Amino acid sequence: MLVQLDPSLPEPLYRQLRAAIADAIEAGRFAAGELLPSSRALAADLDLSRNTVNMAYQELTAEGFLESIPRVGYAVNRDLRRYLATLPEEKAVPHIDWESRMGDLGDDLPHVVRAPERHTEPYAFVVGEPDVSLFPTAPWMRAMRAAMSDEHIGSSLGDRFDTDDPLLVEMLCKHVLPARGITAAADEVLVTMGSQNGLYLVSLALLDGRKRVAVEEPGYPDARHIFKRRGARLIPVPVDDQGIVVPPDLKRIDLVSVTPSHHYPTNATLSVGRRQQLLAQAETQDFVIVEDDYDSEFRYQGRPTPSLKALDDSGRVIYLGSFSKFLAPGLRLGYVVAEGPLISRLRDLRRYMLRHPPGLLQRTMGLMIEAGDYLRSVRRSRYALKDKWERCVESVDRHVPWDVTLPTGGLSLWLPGPDDFDAVAVTKEALTRGVVVEDGSVCYLQEPAPRNSVRLGFAGTRADAIEPGVAVLGEIIKRHMSALDA
Ligand SMILES: Cc1ncc(COP(=O)(O)O)c(C=O)c1O
Repeated sequence: MLVQLDPSLPEPLYRQLRAAIADAIEAGRFAAGELLPSSRALAADLDLSRNTVNMAYQELTAEGFLESIPRVGYAVNRDLRRYLATLPEEKAVPHIDWESRMGDLGDDLPHVVRAPERHTEPYAFVVGEPDVSLFPTAPWMRAMRAAMSDEHIGSSLGDRFDTDDPLLVEMLCKHVLPARGITAAADEVLVTMGSQNGLYLVSLALLDGRKRVAVEEPGYPDARHIFKRRGARLIPVPVDDQGIVVPPDLKRIDLVSVTPSHHYPTNATLSVGRRQQLLAQAETQDFVIVEDDYDSEFRYQGRPTPSLKALDDSGRVIYLGSFSKFLAPGLRLGYVVAEGPLISRLRDLRRYMLRHPPGLLQRTMGLMIEAGDYLRSVRRSRYALKDKWERCVESVDRHVPWDVTLPTGGLSLWLPGPDDFDAVAVTKEALTRGVVVEDGSVCYLQEPAPRNSVRLGFAGTRADAIEPGVAVLGEIIKRHMSALDA
């Protein structure tokens, strides 16, 4: 008897043997009344215990496949054909149509796709991911150990239902938000699992199929997915080197979503004049603004501009902050600052989604900020990033044959080529030479999306890989450019 059993499967061996024999009988490989091998012989044959074989035989007997003949052994049930005929015909398991049960997401926008091997290539200019080797591990571990001490364990591990860790909220209000020019009370802050979670909650609270959202074009794809999945209509608004070009009439818009510190993906900083214009229009034309301040701290020349929220007298700005870029995206911690009634609604929505972000992370972060380690670590990473930014800007200047306005902050560079330049092809070729960059086409709503921009992240790139990596990229770009000229 040819039987293949696999001890690594979760199903016990006797069940596997029982199924193999039942299949063989059903397939007609045994005649009615035919004797099966003795349990001793079969056990030896298959290198099993006799007990395993006996258990399989007993189960098959109970099911009517075999009959036990005293002092002889087990034989195929002579009445089996009749018995099988009485069984209902086996039906194919009906296929569940999950698609129609789940419904359509209403979102056909392209997604940002990142190759899993992106970090192991020699010249990894991965966008939006900081260098986790700069993570302040020792202070973090110190804070986490304290968070597990008798004094803090209740706050770290208890169920908070819909509330946040008061220590973290206090630290945000005292030390983190003032650096962005924001004064907020505790009931105006909600801890999130990153700014994307904040965007999602705000969209749940404020958007539906009747709402219109103005988004930067080009802009942050994930925000568009979130808005679109709420059924909102997206209105693309162009961006130049001073950020979003605020249209004079936004009366029919419900929400404007912006990245004022460093526009995603060009890194342009929204000028003071446009900030004031946007805020004034928000009041007179009755819309709200989402300020996604995902990488505000990273400015390498001059002082960081205060947030839009800092200029907001009317309470119309919903501010999204994150620890993803200053510390690590894997921590999944961020915050929303907005007026009390909106924060209460977001809290209620969050409660039924995830209750609250992990208490241990919140308390650890709160203690780290309290000890001064968070701000020290931001200063340290800004210093390391400034070095990378300088190398990157110099290398791009030397090797990339375009005049590009390079921004004074952010974690990536946006390199737009001539209109007919194909950054998609260049990005693919670059990867074959170990250079990971992104093309910017996914950041556009317009169709066909412009394909002429390369995005180059430098936050997670090894400092010594920057110049040689940009040199390889420049060489590929130049070859594609001369093919265009030919
Ligand atoms: C513009 C922008 N907003 C939000 C996010 C999401 O950040 P978080 O990790 O805090 O959810 C990112 C991440 O890359 C981003 O680039």
